Amino acid sequence: MTRDGKKLQVLKYPNPILRKKSEPVTAFDDELRETAAEMFELMRAERGVGLAAPQVGIGRRFFVMNVTGDPADDIFVANPRLGLSREKEVGEEGCLSFPGITTSVKRAAEVEVTAQDLSGAEFTFVARELASACVQHETDHLNGVLLYDKMSAVSKLQNRGLLKKLEADFGAGDEVR
Ligand code: CO
Repeated sequence: MTRDGKKLQVLKYPNPILRKKSEPVTAFDDELRETAAEMFELMRAERGVGLAAPQVGIGRRFFVMNVTGDPADDIFVANPRLGLSREKEVGEEGCLSFPGITTSVKRAAEVEVTAQDLSGAEFTFVARELASACVQHETDHLNGVLLYDKMSAVSKLQNRGLLKKLEADFGAGDEVR
């Protein structure tokens, strides 16, 4: 539960909240820790490998990720700065805000991440392969950049039915908040 007692939910495309650029995290407090714990739980329940704050309607620069499924590999990342390798890799990506859709995305194969943890302490790690793509995908969310923007014209055509359904569901008002 968040402080106002509402359970967090994943906002779906085309909710305009997903398009907003998030603000830096400045308060490393109990509320942030509770929100992060709930986001890890939600990410697992939805079988995702990453979940960014704007996807649950919070306009702050943080995300949670876990690419192995082992709780020991949970990573909380706030205010990330990325050092991207020049080497590129293409992989299939999905997004909890685009249920049912995957598309191939070209990403830096390796990324060095400098960020803050839940206590506000700075830490650095190097992410490769799936973890590298995940870090870049979640950081895109913090800048209002979505999987849709990475889809080729062909991919948009192939996924037209699912995109139209998401647009219709949103138009129906379920996700407006
Ligand atoms: Co996503």
